[in-house]
Amino acid sequence: MPQLCVIPGDGIGLEVVPAATAVLQAAIPNLEIIEAEAGWTCFQKHGVSVPDSTLATIRTCGAALFGAVSSPSRKVAGYRSAILTLRQELDLYANIRPVKSWPHVSPRPGIDMIIVRENTEGLYSGRERVEMGEGMQIDSVETAVAERVITRRASLRIGMRALNIMQTLNRQKLTIVHKANVLPLTDGLFRDCVREIFTDAAQSSAGVTVDELLVDVAALKMVAEPEYFDVIVTTNLFGDILSDAAAYWGGGLGLAPSLNWGEACAVAEPVHGSAPDIAGQGIANPMAAILSAALLARSVWDLPEAAEAMETAVARVLTHQPHLRGTMALATAVIAALP
Ligand code: IPM
Ligand code: MN
Repeated sequence: MPQLCVIPGDGIGLEVVPAATAVLQAAIPNLEIIEAEAGWTCFQKHGVSVPDSTLATIRTCGAALFGAVSSPSRKVAGYRSAILTLRQELDLYANIRPVKSWPHVSPRPGIDMIIVRENTEGLYSGRERVEMGEGMQIDSVETAVAERVITRRASLRIGMRALNIMQTLNRQKLTIVHKANVLPLTDGLFRDCVREIFTDAAQSSAGVTVDELLVDVAALKMVAEPEYFDVIVTTNLFGDILSDAAAYWGGGLGLAPSLNWGEACAVAEPVHGSAPDIAGQGIANPMAAILSAALLARSVWDLPEAAEAMETAVARVLTHQPHLRGTMALATAVIAALP
């Protein structure tokens, strides 16, 4: 029996997570749900954005659906972003962000790509510091440095995850996105490791073509020719930026799902934030959360039929009820449209 830890979080997370959970329960009737806390409200209550009990529940379930969390706009002592904490603590090393054209909401048809973003290192390594000269004051910083860490281990495993996804989903073309012309040591290593995976797996990667693009060229293509992309594998920050740009083609952040996926567990998460400006009104779009839940069904529980059913139902609602609004009304319509 599949188990799911649900973490509504803050803001519209409290609305879209119950909506997506209702759809999941309709598609997978024997699903067991366990609720857990994380985020800003949780920090204010318990002094920590991700309690150990939440980590333990996710580990036990192997799967979580995370809504969204607010972060304070000023620095608060002891506060650490909940999603970054989850990625690090649970070693969720791959961030899978599929983008495809949906009826009515996408600016154009024919787009179907998956961004596979390295999710633990690069510029997210947390190695940021100021360099202080003798007698310098903190408010007169001259130099601040962030280290961008690329390791063989993380590059090989993200390459392997990309390969597995391509095999499972029958994808043909991999584009490695990097900046090895300026960063030959770090991004050269990343590129070479990913290539190594696909060369060594010659048999299982038969029929797959591997090309590479510099990230600036990839950004132009993402704007001018998004159909070019099938599967992209890239480092952490490039994946963060490119996936927001790509989300435009899928109909915006309201339709953008993601899966933070490690070896032992996975956390599905709509790409959007907690949207405090519309929170509590019941108008948040639950589609990104529903599609994120579908990613869990396909990738973690190995229930591709359930995932497809949920995605088909979303497409049906977008096609036949393009003007329908309201978080619960949309979720109810998706449930009614399940094949
Ligand atoms: C994302 C978000 C996060 C990131 C933020 C909220 C830390 O932008 O999931 O893409 O930068 O990874
Ligand atoms: Mn982002």
